[in-house]
Amino acid sequence: MSGLTTTRAPFSEEAQAHGELYIHQPYELYSDANHEAWRQLYHRMEDRWQRYANPRFLEGIGSLCLDPTRVPRLDDVNKFLSPLTGFKAKAVSGYVPSFMFFDCLRNREFPTTITIRDAGMLDYLPEPDIFHDIAGHVPMHTDRAFADTLVRFGDCAHTAAEIVAGIKDEQEQIRRVTSIFKALARFFWFTIEFGLMRGPDGKGIKVYGSGLLSSFGEIEHAVCSPDVERRPMQIEAAIHQTFEIDHYQPLLFIVDSFDHLYSLVDELEHRMKAGKLNHVAPGEPVVNEIDLQSFLDATLA
Ligand SMILES: [Fe+2]
Repeated sequence: MSGLTTTRAPFSEEAQAHGELYIHQPYELYSDANHEAWRQLYHRMEDRWQRYANPRFLEGIGSLCLDPTRVPRLDDVNKFLSPLTGFKAKAVSGYVPSFMFFDCLRNREFPTTITIRDAGMLDYLPEPDIFHDIAGHVPMHTDRAFADTLVRFGDCAHTAAEIVAGIKDEQEQIRRVTSIFKALARFFWFTIEFGLMRGPDGKGIKVYGSGLLSSFGEIEHAVCSPDVERRPMQIEAAIHQTFEIDHYQPLLFIVDSFDHLYSLVDELEHRMKAGKLNHVAPGEPVVNEIDLQSFLDATLA
């Protein structure tokens, strides 16, 4: 029985085949192996979180009351999360097209993968799973400034759609969406997914990016390895910076605080309105057809 294992979850595949993106979490389908994968993933991260995670993440983990030994129920997580910031984890069957993803954030809903990686392959996973989404992302959503920052990312996507809605030439519209989307995706990547932050009192470096908080190997590498270049965050550097998802990140950006991060997203939107995201450097991430179309559909709304 495959349970709800990444790439082997008939429940999710069937939902996708029926075009159902937002689903419920069929908790009874999790197998013992799924729970064991969660237990192992959680157990080996605990010490690393204590050492490398920013204090708000540690507080978040505490206030969500996650069971270290069982895959969490999203309803239980939301009972603790929602009163704090209004955010909710929302079960999805698979990939959420970018505009829809940002729009969910704007509504304080976090699209959450319900499948979990195979217990025999804990280390490398190119796609998100429930450990990445719930243990890596959601504890940060208990922080007011961080949660408000996610909402501002959602606002940015709407602003982008409004800007390109006014462009009559179809080719130019596509070119513009592609450039703005790349800028947004890169900024999201270097903050929400792989962000570093100055430690308390400005000393040391702590991790707040969920890609790092859910990775046993990379969380330490990000903070300690001499092979990583760590730069103070500069928007113009991040939006032109390509990234690859299949190896440890060689370049990471540091913000000062969550209030600083919030102000940066304001600044990003300001730059977008001033036309400064219209010609970002080519390269990764590739803007796929589904993401592009989701923005174009939003221009018609
Ligand atoms: Fe993520």
